[in-house]
Amino acid sequence: MQVDGRAMRPIGALAAGDGIEIIDQRALPHELKLVELRTPEAVFTAIRDMWLRGAPLIGAAAAYGLALALRADASDSALDAAAARLREARPTAVNLAWAIDRVHRCVRPLAASLRADVAWHEADAIAEEDVATNAAIGRHGLALLHELARRHPDRPVRVLTHCNAGWLATVDWGTATSPIYQAHAQGMRLHVWVDETRPRNQGASLTAWELGRAGVPHAVVADNAGGHLMQQRQVDLVIVGCDRVAANGDVCNKIGTYLKALAAQDNGVPFYVAMPSSTFDATLPSGDAIPIEERTAREVTHLAGRDSRGRVVEVQLTPDGSGAVNPAFDVTPARLVTGLITEHGIVAAEAAELRRLGEHAA
Ligand code: MRU
Repeated sequence: MQVDGRAMRPIGALAAGDGIEIIDQRALPHELKLVELRTPEAVFTAIRDMWLRGAPLIGAAAAYGLALALRADASDSALDAAAARLREARPTAVNLAWAIDRVHRCVRPLAASLRADVAWHEADAIAEEDVATNAAIGRHGLALLHELARRHPDRPVRVLTHCNAGWLATVDWGTATSPIYQAHAQGMRLHVWVDETRPRNQGASLTAWELGRAGVPHAVVADNAGGHLMQQRQVDLVIVGCDRVAANGDVCNKIGTYLKALAAQDNGVPFYVAMPSSTFDATLPSGDAIPIEERTAREVTHLAGRDSRGRVVEVQLTPDGSGAVNPAFDVTPARLVTGLITEHGIVAAEAAELRRLGEHAA
């Protein structure tokens, strides 16, 4: 996507093939900071500590991380150890294991001398495929927005989104935002409600930043506001991303997604999930089996932001001594999902359709 007239992606391979450059998302929205990662351990830390985040993006980064590990040691044991280590960086988004397994499968049968270059090439392929996948998700989602624009020619189409499933969470386009960017490029009038997404505020700090750079009209709302906006008929459509979808269509996404799905159903608002097929996990029968990441309580008890002098500072919100619990994801049951917007088209969140999708994608 374009940032101030310059084409940018949140990840890119260094020309020498000895590292990657990423946007350090911890610094946004106050600073656009690029950092180079040249070792698998640096990639591990960047994923674990959320310098970069979003299911498709952590998959692509881990693929490059594995290739970097093979540049240092391409033996069977080093390959297996590096894959296992990177897989541990974050537990919930299945794209991480999906990308590592894909690179591992590709290089394991090869002579050690060939592995690093082939792995690098495969990581490039994963990254480029993600761009094409998200562009296709955008084309399919666009049809939904066109239908709403046709129904409401006198006002903008109003979309609510949660967390950041934008281009910062992928290699480009985003998943949930791809239809929005494509519609905006066609001149459609849109308004996006951006859930702030406590505790890490990916909506307020990342989605709002992206939409602002792209000139898409939007407003950040407190997480608690979505239900009210839906009751007031201020939301035409909800589109969110996902971190893992189980075989029965249950959707795991950023904490708070489930509450939006409940409110959407109660108010007759369509609730769509943008899902690249790399986020579908056919091995898990239902959402109950999806591991939910528990993050540090400090993300709940403290908040960072820019003060009146322009300095980024962290403040404590809670009383001394109050504990906090921080589950990072929740599961929205398939019955609350209107449809899954995939690169192959829009499918129902139900087992038979997802099985067919899995066969198509294989
Ligand atoms: O903890 P995060 O910021 O990595 O969580 C990301 C989300 O939940 C996104 O909505 C999801 O990964 C979809 S990204 C296209």
